[in-house]
Amino acid sequence: MSASSFRFCRTSIKTVLRTAEISRRFGGFTAMLRKQDVAAMRMDYKTPIGFDETDLVAKEPFQQFDAWFREATKAYNVGEANAMVLSTCGRDCRPTARVVLLKGYDNTGFTFFTNYNSRKGEQLNENPYACLLFYWHPLHRQVKIEGRVEKMSDEQSEEYFHSRPRPSQLGAIVSHQSSVIASRKGWFKVIPDKVEFWQGQSSRLHDRIMFRKPGPDEVLDENLTKKGADGWVYERLSP
Ligand SMILES: Cc1cc2nc3c(=O)[nH]c(=O)nc-3n(C[C@H](O)[C@H](O)[C@H](O)COP(=O)(O)O)c2cc1C
Repeated sequence: MSASSFRFCRTSIKTVLRTAEISRRFGGFTAMLRKQDVAAMRMDYKTPIGFDETDLVAKEPFQQFDAWFREATKAYNVGEANAMVLSTCGRDCRPTARVVLLKGYDNTGFTFFTNYNSRKGEQLNENPYACLLFYWHPLHRQVKIEGRVEKMSDEQSEEYFHSRPRPSQLGAIVSHQSSVIASRKGWFKVIPDKVEFWQGQSSRLHDRIMFRKPGPDEVLDENLTKKGADGWVYERLSP
């Protein structure tokens, strides 16, 4: 981000916060935004490029993710390209979601770091499946990753803790969710069996390609489902 765009962002955030403060002091807003105004909010994505099977950089999802992730890290205004929504659901079957940071990925999965005693930690203990969602608005792109979740070993967690900058280590120790026990923090890895790449297009004719691992006895319809690499298949989904 250039110095001038950083200054611009800071100014806009200040303006929004100042407006909220004035409103709070003078009794707050009297009415919520009207339903029809909310319903009318929509953006027609004018993505200059299409996205179909011929645009895939690989026939498996990890390299494809790598290509989109690199673009997101370089794109103007994306902000935190590694911020993702993590959705989990415990044994009560009530889904919850929150933002966490992607801390690494390779061709086995996607890792994040958290407190094992947090709500998400408890839910993953009860039900080790999760969905990760990236939305890179300036690129009109979304990536959805679904799969089984594994706890990383204590050694791997320890190694990661010590690799973090000193202020983050202190933050990890004192943070509310840590319950003040640093050893409760550790890594989880999502091992995907479905990864969907979504590219927004105009008139809501969005491009979607989903990679998935087929069932053991599944008979593939070759008109709809293409064989990819490393046991993956991929399909175009309707917009
Ligand atoms: C941009 C951003 C990044 C975050 N990164 C993390 C993270 O990497 N790990 C984490 O445990 N919480 C992170 N959080 C906080 C979580 O969103 C959440 O509030 C916290 O983990 C407690 O979630 P839970 O009670 O559902 O378990 C982040 C929040 C934001 C807004």
